[in-house]
Amino acid sequence: MKNMLFVCLGNICRSPTAKAVFDYRLSQAGIEIGTDSAGTIGYHTGSQPDARAIEHARAFGIDITRERARVVTAADFRRFERIYAMDQANLDDLLRMAPEDSTAEVELVMTLAPDYGLTEVPDPYYGGSDGFRQVLDMLDAAAEGLMRELAIRR
Ligand code: 4NP
Repeated sequence: MKNMLFVCLGNICRSPTAKAVFDYRLSQAGIEIGTDSAGTIGYHTGSQPDARAIEHARAFGIDITRERARVVTAADFRRFERIYAMDQANLDDLLRMAPEDSTAEVELVMTLAPDYGLTEVPDPYYGGSDGFRQVLDMLDAAAEGLMRELAIRR
């Protein structure tokens, strides 16, 4: 697999965190896969991740301060081999936005960790600290799932 895109609603909490967690696990494993993140809405375009997401990522050992929010584009569906949605609403929006010549596999990121027990990464934006910690925990489980998949494929 060449590259993947992580998508949430605002691109300031879950998907920039996803990109960084996957980058971290991929580099640990010495696997080169391109990653990026985007949102289905443009409200936060150009913004740094949410301060709470930055803090929780830092506690987890990763730096997301260089990420900047952007919106999903039609070109993303041709450029990225896989597009991972955080929740069902993101997935529905993506399937609506997909151009006819889309070549991307579009699916929920938690399909990578079917044993986790949750199929959607809940939006932490309006909640407390627990939500942000849970996002990291879930995405780490998903990244581990991808590592297993790649190890099996090789
Ligand atoms: P995210 O969280 O989709 O994980 O980046 C949100 C960020 C912003 C908003 C909602 C969710 N918002 O409504 O502005």
